[in-house]
Amino acid sequence: MTDPRVPRRRRFLVCEPRHFAVQYAINPWMQPDAPVDTVLALQQWRALTDTYRAHGHTVETVEPVPGLPDMVFAANAAVVVEGRVFGSLFHAPERRPESVPYAAWFKGRGFDVHQPEAVCEGEGDLVPAGRWILAGTGFRTTRAAHREVQEHLGVPVIGLTLVDPYFYHLDTALFVLDDAGHGTDGNIAYYPEAFSPGSREALARLYPDAVLATREDAMAFGLNSVCDGRHVFISPGATGLAERLADRGYVPVPVDLSEFHKAGGGIKCCTQEIRENHS
Ligand code: ARG
Repeated sequence: MTDPRVPRRRRFLVCEPRHFAVQYAINPWMQPDAPVDTVLALQQWRALTDTYRAHGHTVETVEPVPGLPDMVFAANAAVVVEGRVFGSLFHAPERRPESVPYAAWFKGRGFDVHQPEAVCEGEGDLVPAGRWILAGTGFRTTRAAHREVQEHLGVPVIGLTLVDPYFYHLDTALFVLDDAGHGTDGNIAYYPEAFSPGSREALARLYPDAVLATREDAMAFGLNSVCDGRHVFISPGATGLAERLADRGYVPVPVDLSEFHKAGGGIKCCTQEIRENHS
């Protein structure tokens, strides 16, 4: 018998995909010639936000800006820990202007926003995991940003090197199941081959009980999931991973964001978590 998993209510920030499109290619998923079904994208996105609300989570929205087709990927705009907002400096020039409306959103709600000097892409690469932050590098967020995050937030940062261009952000290769804290190290699910050998070994030491995903799960965006401690909002294509999560007592909740996969994003990419209190 597995322990009952207890969900914790989350506060999420999302951005309606009113201007979503694939207009440039900054990762291997993006093919500017392949059209996006904008009506379907909007339906899928609404199903995601409805599902969050139906599970008791708070969902807030930032107004989308025309000409910023990737702005829907709210996770990339910041990482928020204990109410402190560490903003983003996007790698791609096309995405740099997104930082402005997101920073304005946070400032308008009383948050202090730190504007980073080093290239970093928010929760895409900076994944708070309770007592530490797991931080990806290799394609977008730099090592210099890892140092800046640790200095600014005072939370230990564990650097991990990504090696597969399909998994260019840490949140395409790993997600948090349970936060570390209260005497536990927490747990994660991840796809080991997305990481350099040393980073893989580091993850195995930190999380000997992790749920491991296959390449198939990862290519189906199964690791771009959001877990509230009990429910895992997960891409329906990641069937193997969903089964392994269910075996561990989690409840997979499939949500299909296939239109967003065309831009290299999924559930987590569309979801910024606002963490206000100590976990
Ligand atoms: N087209 C976007 C990019 O390449 C997708 C971002 C996906 N977000 C994420 N958190 N992985 O930047």
